[in-house]
Amino acid sequence: MRSYADYLSSQLPHKPVCSLNAIVLAAGEGTRMKSHTPKVLHAMCGKTLLERVLTAVSTLKPMISVVVVRHQAQKVQEAALEINPRIQIALQDDIPGTGRAVYCGLHKLEEIAADCKECRDNEKQEEAENIIVAAADMPLLNGAILSQLAQAHCQSCNMATILTTTLDNPYGYGRIIRDINGSVLRITEEADATKEEREVKEVNTSVYIFNRKALNKALKSVKANNSQKEIYLTDVIEHIAQNGHVGTVVIDNPLWVEGVNTRQQLSKLACAYNQEICDYWMGEGVSIMDPATTWIEDTVAFDEDVSVLPGSFIQGNSCIEQDAIIGPYTTLIDTYVHKAATIERSRIQESTIKERAQIGPWSYLRPGNVIGEGAKAGSFVEMKKAIIDEKAKVPHLSYIGDTHIGARSNVGGGTITANYDGIHKNHTEIGTDVHVGAGNMFVAPVTVGNHVTTGAGSVVRHDVSDNSMVYSENTQHEVKDWELRRKNDPPRDNSSTSSSS
Ligand code: UD1
Ligand code: CA
Repeated sequence: MRSYADYLSSQLPHKPVCSLNAIVLAAGEGTRMKSHTPKVLHAMCGKTLLERVLTAVSTLKPMISVVVVRHQAQKVQEAALEINPRIQIALQDDIPGTGRAVYCGLHKLEEIAADCKECRDNEKQEEAENIIVAAADMPLLNGAILSQLAQAHCQSCNMATILTTTLDNPYGYGRIIRDINGSVLRITEEADATKEEREVKEVNTSVYIFNRKALNKALKSVKANNSQKEIYLTDVIEHIAQNGHVGTVVIDNPLWVEGVNTRQQLSKLACAYNQEICDYWMGEGVSIMDPATTWIEDTVAFDEDVSVLPGSFIQGNSCIEQDAIIGPYTTLIDTYVHKAATIERSRIQESTIKERAQIGPWSYLRPGNVIGEGAKAGSFVEMKKAIIDEKAKVPHLSYIGDTHIGARSNVGGGTITANYDGIHKNHTEIGTDVHVGAGNMFVAPVTVGNHVTTGAGSVVRHDVSDNSMVYSENTQHEVKDWELRRKNDPPRDNSSTSSSS
C-alpha cells in the first residue's frame, strides 16, 4: 500500500534535472512563534518544518545539501543530522540577513570542494553548476514544485530563477519588480518598498535556483543599506538581472509556498494540508465522515472501503486494510490494521490488528501487540507486548503485558498480568481454550497450559498444567450486624496526637 507522500513522489521525474547543491536557511530566530523551540523545528503533520523542506529539496538530488544554522544552532543542527546524516552544517556569523546566511552556506560548499580536491585527487568532484536556496519554514513546499523550478531554470539557462506567487494581500513579502516587458528587475522588501511597489501582488517565496558563479559574484556586492540593516539575499537579484536572465516560476496556489512565521499560519497550513490528504483518500474510496476532525498524516496508507469516523488521528506508518472501521475518537500510531477490524475510541501504538479483530471502546495498546484474527481487546483494556491469538478475548478492564494468550481463550474482567517485579519484565504464557475467571492476577513469570479454567479472583503464581482447574483460596469473613455496631460506636477523638487503635 502506498501513502499520500508516496503518491506525491511518484509524480516526480526520476532523473535529476540539473547538477545542483542545496542551501537551506534555518538560522533565523522566528521570534513571532514566541517559543522555546526554534521555528523550523515546529511540527506539521508529524514532521518538522525543516524535515519537510529537506525532503522536498532532496527530490532534486542535490550533490551536497547545506543547512545554515545560528539561533539555537545545536538543536537545529542535531535535528538536521537526524533527518539526514549526510547534511552539511554551516554556522551563520553575527551578520544578520538571508544574504549573509547564503554567503555562509556557499563558504561551506567551497570548503567541502577544497577538501575533496586534496583528499581525492583522482576523482575530483566537480562543483555543482547551480544552487537551490530555500527557507526552512515552508512546510508545504514539495518536490513537484521544485522540479518545475529546476526545469525552468535549466532549460532557459537562467542565471537565477525565483519561485513566486500572487497574493491578494502581499503585505510583509518581498515584491517582484518587473520592467514594462515583464523582465525581472529586482525584489523589494516591504519595509523598503515605495508606495507603487507595495501595490505589486507578485511576491518572492524565498525559494530560488541560482547559477553558482552568478550568485557568488552578486553576493559580494550586496550591502546592508536597507531599513533592517541586514544583508538581504533578495538584493542579489538586481545585480544578476543586470548581467543575465532572471526567470520566475509562478505558483497558482499560494498555500504550497507559504512560509510560517506565526502559530496561526502553522495551524492554517496544517488544516489545509490535512484537507488535501483527506480529499485524496476519499477519492481513493475511503469514507471520512468529518475531515475537519480527522487528522491523517501523509505517511499513512489505506485500502478502499475503509471508514474513518470523527475525531480520529492516524499517524506514522500506519496501514489500514479494506473494510476496517476506525473511530470515532481513535488514535493509531505506526499500526497495521487488517481487513474488517474495528477500533473504537482507543489509542494504539506500534501494533498489528489482524482481520476482524475488535478493539475498544476505550482501550490503550502500547507498543508491541498483535491482536489475532477475530480476537478482542474490549473496553478499558491496556496492553503492552501482548500477543493475542485468533478469537481470544480480553473483553473488560484488564492489563495484559508481556503476555501470549492462545487461541480462543477468554480472560475475565478485571484480570491483571503482574509482569514487573521492580527489576525485570516477566512473561505470562496462557494456553489455548483457557477460561480465565474474573479478577485474576497472573504473577509472571508463569505458564498456564491449554484447556485450563481458573476461578474468579485467583492469584496464579505457579505454572498450571493442561486441562486443570485452578483457584486460590480467599477466606471470606463475615462480621454480623456491622451497620448497627457502627452506629453505636462512640465518636472518635481526633484532637489527641497520640495514636490509638
Ligand atoms: C523573506 C524574503 C522575502 C520573502 C519572504 C517569503 C529576504 C530578505 N526576504 O522574508 O522577500 O517574500 O521571505 O517568506 O530574504 N534566515 C537565516 N538567517 C538570517 C535570517 C533568516 O537563515 O539571518 C532564514 C530563516 O530561518 C528563514 C528564512 O531565512 O528560514 C527566511 O527568513 P525570514 O526572516 O522568515 O524572512 P522574511 O522576513 O519572511
Ligand atoms: Ca518568512
